Amino acid sequence: MRLRCSECRHELELHCGAMECLECGELLELVPEVNREPVELKRLWNQRRASDDLRDQSGVWRFREFLPEYPADAVVTMGEGNTPLVRGSRTADYAGLRNLWFKHLGWNPTGCFKDLGMTVGVTEAKFVGAKIVACASTGNTSGSLAAYGARAGIRTQVYLPAGKISVNKLAQTLDYGAEVVEIEGSFDAALDAVLQSSKSDIYLLNSINPFRIEGQKTTMFHLCEQFGWDPPDYVVVPGGNLGNTSAFGKGFEELKASGLIERVPKLIVVQAAGANPFATLWRTGASELVPVASPETAATAIRIGNPRSWRKALRAVQFTGGFVMDVTDDEIAEAKAVIGQDGVGCEPASAATLAGLHKVRSEHVIDPEARVAAILTGHVLKDTDYIIKHRQQRARETSAVETN
Ligand code: F0G
Repeated sequence: MRLRCSECRHELELHCGAMECLECGELLELVPEVNREPVELKRLWNQRRASDDLRDQSGVWRFREFLPEYPADAVVTMGEGNTPLVRGSRTADYAGLRNLWFKHLGWNPTGCFKDLGMTVGVTEAKFVGAKIVACASTGNTSGSLAAYGARAGIRTQVYLPAGKISVNKLAQTLDYGAEVVEIEGSFDAALDAVLQSSKSDIYLLNSINPFRIEGQKTTMFHLCEQFGWDPPDYVVVPGGNLGNTSAFGKGFEELKASGLIERVPKLIVVQAAGANPFATLWRTGASELVPVASPETAATAIRIGNPRSWRKALRAVQFTGGFVMDVTDDEIAEAKAVIGQDGVGCEPASAATLAGLHKVRSEHVIDPEARVAAILTGHVLKDTDYIIKHRQQRARETSAVETN
């Protein structure tokens, strides 16, 4: 495994702890060197399901040939990954798609996809002897880091936009014992604040950390395995700071290059209309991302105006032949209610996927027979205030219609 700049390819020492290129300032990436036959890898990964090695029970470390190497007892894992594919008739009708699956990453240990990245990121932090791990967050990264930091016995600090995250996520983060620093402004201000402080003895675990991306990319390894290595036509993902989009693109590049799959799914990234700098970049074809100064959306997880991983994410979307779009908060609320009606449920940001599919299907962008996997990123209980508020609002609207 090598560490290099994702833009200028300048190489760095693997465990140096850097988060950006010393030459050009761009984000870093890890480069696995795998010399094994695809059939052999597929057989090995399948056999590991029957093993009681903790790494084999993790849906991340089971694919460890593509991850940085650590001694078995150094790995900080809680059996993350291994999330099922679920289908639902109401959601399929709503999207106008006959072949729609949800991969529910909300069914991970802390209720969101961040666990897939944190198991690798916190393992690396422990391996390099970090004294403090830290992140900025809209609530899910903080909950996940707090949990994995606690497991690793490392002091954990999280920087949160004051009053702008779900109370469930704040409570969860506190429960795992993290120290909370509240920052006035959005996630972007919180990330600036943690970047300032991480110049000292703090190990940063936002998605600009390349080790986190390695863990998150395994979602696509597992997805392809679940599809019998004949992947779907589209993978749909909500976009915030764009770490997940970057990770999925990297996963597809590696899966294809190593012969594990023959073609890659098209990545569709869906942003909230009030926090849509990446969708605007895509629509306008601009060469540089223009940040949204005051992002606004009720899907607070993706209330981000200046996504740091946009270059990597753009490479991912272009590599797969996909596209980027946005949806309104009303469209998200409607789609979220349909996901609930299928007994699946998710947090608001996750529902952007179904909202996006509903929108593109009504515009006939996707064939109704296409095979589509939508990534649900967070659990239904991640934002309960949102649910109660929307139910009350809908009840008021219904009674207003009845009295008219
Ligand atoms: N969905 C959920 C539920 C999220 O929590 C996030 C990001 C995203 C989607 C977007 O993912 O940033 O990789 O594009 N949450 C971060 C956090 C920012 O701090 O919890 P992304």
